[in-house]
Amino acid sequence: MPHQAPLGYVAMLAAFVGLGLFVLPGSAQTDAPEVEALFKENDCHKCHHPTRSKKGPALQKIAEKYKGKADAGDKVVEQMSKGGKVKLDDGTEDDHKIIDVKDPKIRLEIAKWILSH
Ligand code: HEC
Repeated sequence: MPHQAPLGYVAMLAAFVGLGLFVLPGSAQTDAPEVEALFKENDCHKCHHPTRSKKGPALQKIAEKYKGKADAGDKVVEQMSKGGKVKLDDGTEDDHKIIDVKDPKIRLEIAKWILSH
């Protein structure tokens, strides 16, 4: 039935546009309060303050470091996923916290939120 084709096409287009908005870096509508809550629940804020360096670098510093890098989101997700030794500002070493979020999409949302500082 040819008259149905345009409708299907429009629906598909709408789905792609919706997907694109979600996936494309920079254009995602981050639900900041939820992401921020996860950041706090995972104690990330104990070492990472938005503007001030604490035990770990300030979020602004992290955002600055990755500014303009295409793989910034992935790198930040990696840092919060792999653990591994980090040097605290008092000179001691510690295993970096692994975020307790299983969904890679949400990890990426958190990464984007960090990079938005
Ligand atoms: C005990 C303190 C501490 C906690 C808790 C902590 N971090 Fe970190 N984090 C650090 C330190 C220190 C570094 C710096 C590592 C370096 O530069 O070698 C770091 C680095 C990072 C980086 C990478 C910065 C870069 O320059 O590449 C990201 C992203 C990050 N942390 C995210 C998080 C997230 C998300 C959480 C919560 C799950 C978290 N951190 C919890 C101390 C902490």
